[in-house]
Amino acid sequence: MAMINVSILFVVFNVLVVPVYSQTCQGTTAYASCSSNSACGCFPMVTADDFGVCGFLWLTCARLEPCKGTNDYCDQPDHVCVRHTRCRNQPVCYPLQMIDQRVCPPPNNIPVDTTTPMDITHQTTTIETTTPFTETTTVETTTPFTETTMTTTFQTTTTSSASEKPADNICATATWSKQGITVAGNGTQGAAYNRLYYPDGIFIGKNQTVYVADTDNNRVMKWVKNASVGELVAGHGGSGSNSSQLKKPKDIVVDGDETVYVADYGNSRIQKWFRNSFRAATVLSVAYPIGIALDDEETMYVSMTSGSYLFQQRKGASKWESIGNNATQIQFITIDKNGAVIGVNLQYKQVLIKHKNQTKFYYIADGSEEYFLTPSFDPYSAIVDQSGYVYVLERSNNRVTRWGPSAKTGTIIIGGRGSGSAADQVNSPSDISFDDEGNIYIADTNNHRVQKFSIDKSSCN
Ligand SMILES: *[C@@H]1O[C@H](CO)[C@@H](O)[C@H](O)[C@H]1NC(C)=O
Ligand SMILES: *[C@@H]1O[C@H](CO)[C@@H](O)[C@H](O)[C@H]1NC(C)=O
Ligand SMILES: *[C@@H]1O[C@H](CO)[C@@H](O)[C@H](O)[C@H]1NC(C)=O
Ligand SMILES: *[C@@H]1O[C@H](CO)[C@@H](O)[C@H](O)[C@H]1NC(C)=O
Ligand SMILES: *[C@@H]1O[C@H](CO)[C@@H](O)[C@H](O)[C@H]1NC(C)=O
Ligand SMILES: *[C@@H]1O[C@H](CO)[C@@H](O)[C@H](O)[C@H]1NC(C)=O
Repeated sequence: MAMINVSILFVVFNVLVVPVYSQTCQGTTAYASCSSNSACGCFPMVTADDFGVCGFLWLTCARLEPCKGTNDYCDQPDHVCVRHTRCRNQPVCYPLQMIDQRVCPPPNNIPVDTTTPMDITHQTTTIETTTPFTETTTVETTTPFTETTMTTTFQTTTTSSASEKPADNICATATWSKQGITVAGNGTQGAAYNRLYYPDGIFIGKNQTVYVADTDNNRVMKWVKNASVGELVAGHGGSGSNSSQLKKPKDIVVDGDETVYVADYGNSRIQKWFRNSFRAATVLSVAYPIGIALDDEETMYVSMTSGSYLFQQRKGASKWESIGNNATQIQFITIDKNGAVIGVNLQYKQVLIKHKNQTKFYYIADGSEEYFLTPSFDPYSAIVDQSGYVYVLERSNNRVTRWGPSAKTGTIIIGGRGSGSAADQVNSPSDISFDDEGNIYIADTNNHRVQKFSIDKSSCN
């Protein structure tokens, strides 16, 4: 390949949030050529033995902070820890803007490795342009975001009649036991495999297998039906940021091959754990991810603590796109059986839904006055059944309310009896899910357990 004229790309990001699409350099040595921009080279990753990232080589060394911990993580969410021995013996935190494909485009004759996209959102940042080069090109700052506005229109959902049973086994007249049974953890915090420690997100797999983001144990546990002890599926060696560790995982999702995806909150990344694997690969770097969901077409969704952006990656796609641009404070997210994304806006106390293949979010329950309930409505996480009933987990109210399609008031179906550890109580719960039979599961966070509330099958006859 004839070396094209060096074009050094300086970037000034004026937009608030920019995803970074980096290319990786598999098995290449430090500083090896990896881009059609000859000012870019390969930086080996500290947390991976066999790949690096392709970045701009000439950032001033003084700008680069050493990595933290045992030299393997960065405090700033928009930096990645790499080896850069020309600057320091110790690994350094490299700004992700400088490993963007817009700065370091793939070489013309080498196929792009699209298997490990690393994206990040970051605050408005101006990159200093201290380099030994003169030619300057401004990178276009067009982002792949689709502008999305929320509307106040209510969605209308067809309600099935009580006599016909939807595929999720939940009819309009369904009722649930108010007495929960513990299916994971035993009510006492701890690190033994029969315990949990402030569990946050749950995922119910086939055969009522419960997967738990065991947040303060920095691990993910799997409890098969009737088990009295859980199995460790992700997170080894305590809190940390190497490829076998997690730091305060908040939410999880499991695909049909039992691959577990973890919102690794404290490390600002989404980790992919193959079944029985000791270590994980990073599939997305995003500031403080808090929610993760997967629809039946294996499109993955990731929400952030800040709520600023909601990311989506379709199955097989290499890139993540941002949807729900104004999905302010959407934190925990879930997917219903029809592929709709349900999110909660904590700030405005709204439950929102985005139907499959649409871009708009609609309110389906909110905290305005007409939704009056005592104490006042305080959604944290929500799910929707196939008949359009909304189930809202109200963390501070220690209850679940059920809302008919377009209803302006909800009914308490679980809890509502103050915080506590009795079978009919929960204590600051974080997540809610169904299994295939229509039973409801609650991550009962401050009781360090997962509770199952069985559907009364006769209520749907
Ligand atoms: C964003 O959402 C908030 C609350 O949900 C709303 O008040 C505001 O008007 C929305 N902004 C845009 C640009 O849609
Ligand atoms: C949980 O299990 C531990 C033993 O691992 C036991 O000491 C504790 O009493 C149990 N707690 C409950 C509520 O069963
Ligand atoms: C679910 O249980 C059935 C019957 O016991 C078994 O054949 C199947 O492998 C189980 N599936 C999973 C994912 O555990
Ligand atoms: C779980 O326990 C219930 C009640 O003890 C029993 O009927 C059921 O067969 C058990 N299921 C499995 C998968 O062990
Ligand atoms: C990560 O660190 C933990 C704790 O030091 C260690 O047990 C584990 O082997 C490390 N994993 C890798 C892949 O280095
Ligand atoms: C959504 O879009 C995907 C890809 O374009 C398509 O395959 C699928 O059928 C669509 N689903 C619905 C419900 O429209």
